[in-house]
Amino acid sequence: MENQLAPFPMSRPRRLRQSDWMRRMVSETTISPDDFIYPMFICEGENVTDPIPSMPGVNRLSIDMAIRVANHAANVGIPAIALFPYTDIKDKNKSCTEAFNPKNLVNRATRAIRSAVPDIGIMLDVALDPYNSDGHDGILRDGEIINDETLMALEKQAIVQAESGANILGPSDMMDGRIGIIRSALESNDFQNVAIMAYSAKFSSSYYGPFRDAVGASGALKGDKKTYQLDPANTNEALRMIQRDLSEGADMIMVKPGMPYLDVCQRITKEISAPCFAYQVSGEYAMIEAAALNGWIDRDKVIFESLLSFKRAGCAGILSYYAIKIAEILDSPL
Ligand code: PBG
Repeated sequence: MENQLAPFPMSRPRRLRQSDWMRRMVSETTISPDDFIYPMFICEGENVTDPIPSMPGVNRLSIDMAIRVANHAANVGIPAIALFPYTDIKDKNKSCTEAFNPKNLVNRATRAIRSAVPDIGIMLDVALDPYNSDGHDGILRDGEIINDETLMALEKQAIVQAESGANILGPSDMMDGRIGIIRSALESNDFQNVAIMAYSAKFSSSYYGPFRDAVGASGALKGDKKTYQLDPANTNEALRMIQRDLSEGADMIMVKPGMPYLDVCQRITKEISAPCFAYQVSGEYAMIEAAALNGWIDRDKVIFESLLSFKRAGCAGILSYYAIKIAEILDSPL
């Protein structure tokens, strides 16, 4: 870019920073509640609010409590929520059959929220990890994740989720061929309006630890997810996965984790026109909370700044455990 500034003192860039109104007037990026998807953890029971120790301020909620929170999210202007089930160990097995039980926890929660809060979008993860006694997103046999057998399970899972009223499916499993299989299954079962937000650039990250605690998968996981999730060193590969998922019928794509991968977000939003979302994951949340709880950073200001970075990188939206909090912050500016 050529230098368009006149030499000093004709140019004094601080003129544009001199007052709040001037700064607001020339601001390049804004955040609004419309930009957010709020992830929520669901558990069995009634009237349950169960704190997650590694995510201070985030709770597992029974369905009745989740309805209240979903209603609050809708009232503060959040367009959509993403639901994740805490699955009891007795409901996990090697073939992940609970994943395609139409009456499993997440499908019951979806039905209940769909009827109590009709105007909020509901997104569900398509992946086997909450239901897998091996803790993986795919079916494990002889130490290997079996791609095509996993696809058959994911297809069944996606259909029961659509039947429950999910508006957006988020395949987060990173198997090859999953978007095409799920898209065709949705078409042939009359779910043309169900959108797919593909977790396309999902990196094999150590930032997911607190999430695995939250859904009860930490203890179960054997080994790591490196044979299917992306190597944190690779950007070209992330781009290839995004192009592939869009060509198989994804409507939107996602980069995950968020802040450590802002370069990936920015490159994608420059090169690809489909809406790109970032997931500010559990470990990112936990780091901000831990520092704030120690009094080392100003929580609200850091939350705002961290979320602004995704918009600056060009993202259409953000999945964040801070979605409701930021709506409140925006309502009474810092
Ligand atoms: C499961 C899934 C994970 C997250 C969302 N869906 C964890 C994983 O892949 O191990 C992580 C979200 C977070 O850390 O906040 N497929």
